Amino acid sequence: MSEFQLLKNVEPKSAAVRDAIMADPGFGNHFTDHMAHIRYTTEQGWHGHEVKPYGPLLLDPAAAVLHYAQEIFEGLKAYRHADGSVWTFRPERNAERFNLSAERLALPQLPVEDFVESLRATVEQDAAWVPTPKDASDEVSLYLRPFMIASESFLGVRPSQTVDYYVIASPAGAYFEGGAKGVDIWLSDKLKRASMGGTGFAKCGGNYAASMTAQAEAAAHGCKQVMFTDAAESRYLEELGGMNLMLVTQDGELITPELGDSILNGVTRRSLLELAPSLGLTPIERKIEVSEWVKGVESGYITEAFACGTAAVITPIGRLLGNEVEVDMGDTGEYTTKLRTALLDIQYGRAEDTNNWLV
Ligand code: COI
Repeated sequence: MSEFQLLKNVEPKSAAVRDAIMADPGFGNHFTDHMAHIRYTTEQGWHGHEVKPYGPLLLDPAAAVLHYAQEIFEGLKAYRHADGSVWTFRPERNAERFNLSAERLALPQLPVEDFVESLRATVEQDAAWVPTPKDASDEVSLYLRPFMIASESFLGVRPSQTVDYYVIASPAGAYFEGGAKGVDIWLSDKLKRASMGGTGFAKCGGNYAASMTAQAEAAAHGCKQVMFTDAAESRYLEELGGMNLMLVTQDGELITPELGDSILNGVTRRSLLELAPSLGLTPIERKIEVSEWVKGVESGYITEAFACGTAAVITPIGRLLGNEVEVDMGDTGEYTTKLRTALLDIQYGRAEDTNNWLV
């Protein structure tokens, strides 16, 4: 693992500006004073590890990423505990997924140690930007966004020979305004996000670009997220574009669509499946038909539904709406609340980290 050289920002935001931002950060609006950077060339491999002042990138207009979207990213958070210490949650999982995404997008593998160290080096420099939660309902954190871009100036279509990796950091509150209140989601029947053999399982910008029109359609119907279904038959539930879906049944099952080419292997998704047994839930990964959800709510078999992800944490789903569908999930369910509390208590150091998930 290489050391990160520090190039200190000589014009950081003032403590007063920082405090004002952190009092009400929202999500993704504000950025800290530094960012980590590592450069890759086919001749030299990864080199030039540095933490430097946050600021605009100098990119050639012919940089491959701007034309062919050869790009991947990750999302994770740093949490401040009551004793002032700062922790990330299962960062090696993000590092492993980053490398799976890199493989699919023909980008170079980044050693797991470099990934984790880039987070540590960034958080160390900008530790003052990690918000302190006011109480157990306050889900403030420092959201970390590692990303890798094809930076070679070349318009031929082949993997870039020059690549840049960065980590930027953003103090964050709840992803959805209103925090843990139920959100309505829109069932997209025509527009698809991913298909077999495609890039759906990778965390690449292209997947999110492909979800935007459906997201706009959802917003036009008063919904906050899109429920995507499989590209072949529109029959199975997949994911919500920016988060995974989970349903709770009256038999105490926690069910979620099984992974495949078109579903992101969420760290929160995996962690909840692993926590489920301790809360009396049986975790099940399998195909789920749209009709199973709709009919299951009518019959009382499906009792709760929520979205989960790093940014969203656990957000209860209020209603599922679509051209021919309307399902009302009612008030936030008991297990949704229990899972949310269990996860946040580990992340914020209020419960024992028996699985050694914190780094
Ligand atoms: C995350 O949960 O970290 C994501 O990358 C999802 C994005 C919608 C913010």
